[in-house]
Amino acid sequence: MNYKGYAYINTIGCQMNVYDSEKLADILKSHGFEMTHDMDKADIVVCNTCAIRHKAEEKAFSFLGKFAKEKKKRPDLITVMAGCVAQQEGEKAFARVPHLDLVLGTQAFSRFGQHLEDLKSGKRQIVDIEDSDMIFEAMPDMPASEIGFDGNKISRFITIMQGCDNYCTYCVVPYVRGRERSRSHSAIVDEITSLANNGIREITLLGQNVNSYGVKEKGISFPQLLERVSWVEGIARIRFATSHPKDLSLELIHAIRDIDKVCNHLHLPVQSGSNKILKKMNRGYTRQTYITRINALKKACPDISLSTDIIVGFPSESLEDFNDTMELLKEIEFDSIFAFAYSDRSSAPAAKFSDQIEEREKKRRLNLLLQLQDVYTDKRNKALVGKNLEVLVEGESLKLHDGFIKTSDRMKQMTGRSASNKIVHFPSENCAVGDLISIQIKNAYPHSLWGYPIGAEKK
Ligand code: SAH
Ligand code: SF4
Ligand code: F3S
Repeated sequence: MNYKGYAYINTIGCQMNVYDSEKLADILKSHGFEMTHDMDKADIVVCNTCAIRHKAEEKAFSFLGKFAKEKKKRPDLITVMAGCVAQQEGEKAFARVPHLDLVLGTQAFSRFGQHLEDLKSGKRQIVDIEDSDMIFEAMPDMPASEIGFDGNKISRFITIMQGCDNYCTYCVVPYVRGRERSRSHSAIVDEITSLANNGIREITLLGQNVNSYGVKEKGISFPQLLERVSWVEGIARIRFATSHPKDLSLELIHAIRDIDKVCNHLHLPVQSGSNKILKKMNRGYTRQTYITRINALKKACPDISLSTDIIVGFPSESLEDFNDTMELLKEIEFDSIFAFAYSDRSSAPAAKFSDQIEEREKKRRLNLLLQLQDVYTDKRNKALVGKNLEVLVEGESLKLHDGFIKTSDRMKQMTGRSASNKIVHFPSENCAVGDLISIQIKNAYPHSLWGYPIGAEKK
């Protein structure tokens, strides 16, 4: 391992890609590369890509496309397309980015090391999208302490299952991430223990549908996994994403209620409020079941914060269907939503559905939906004024709040998150990153809260 070079990773896409990029960084490091934030200095540039919507895919192609000129100047520069678009495109990726050196699909990550050695010895235009079962366990287990990209130092994502078997008709994930497979609970707990030993205080367990964790493998259930993870010393908070409404069990609701470290926040993507559209999406639940499950959750955990994903403009969505979604937002009052205009994915069945909605109309509906949600985000945040929230301190705030007054040299404006996943800013003289601190909320804003540590001088 005499080789020395610099590696730059650009990560597009979901939390799972962030986790994968950390693993890719581990492999790069074990093959003689050092991570850098400086693209110009890099000897290898990796783009970890996302295919979920057209825009995300375009972002990947345009990022990698930029290196054509650079490669003329520096023929030794190595360019890699990794992840979901790589898995989807395979060899076709060269048609749009001829100067690519490696196309590494999601299923091929465990072989990245091998390919790096080939690249170092001059091999080019490698494609690997071969299926493999061993995506994680075969990977090196280096301490994840010096990853070369941003992120707070106390919180980490950890993928507990790969792939998806749900085949929602709009979605590319089953085609680019393969079949659903769960990791063994002991591998997960070991990895989290090692993260905790390296100072990590919060972890987010990731899967496309965490509720079906271990079902295929006949292992422990997801709520049981939550309990095992809660035994890991040093971990203060456990989050998870994503739950599928069709599989949200009472056992999980009780785990959220009863396991202290599990945060009182649930992300439960509904996608649409119309039964007709839910059926066409192949989601496997109705508007009524969704509402019933949310009500059971609210009853068991009254201060739960809720977020969701919504797609507007799915093929054949009428104004009435769209209105059903608007009404659902009014009925549930989510804390926040992630809303998207439907984007045609050629590998997903909905691309062939009739009655596609015009782009302009999708945008119009999206804006209406986001405007409506602003009312509830504001309402839910304002309801927290006067309350005490426990905040996990993430660092110093970059932007100072109007009310911030420096009363001593040591006074800083800090930032962190509540268990309910709200960003909270506050002044403090002595708290450190990773502390859990009680904050009394004074003001609420669309995207954050402001307050004072309990017991501190209040304005
Ligand atoms: N497994 C998760 C989400 C995965 S993708 C789940 O089942 O909820 C994240 C979000 O992207 C989805 O919830 C959906 O709202 C959105 N999405 C997926 N495919 C899309 C498409 N073709 N067009 C627009 N949004 C899409
Ligand atoms: Fe896609 Fe549906 Fe699987 Fe989520 S559950 S990843 S939306 S197919
Ligand atoms: Fe995108 Fe792949 Fe995640 S398609 S959303 S990066 S699983």
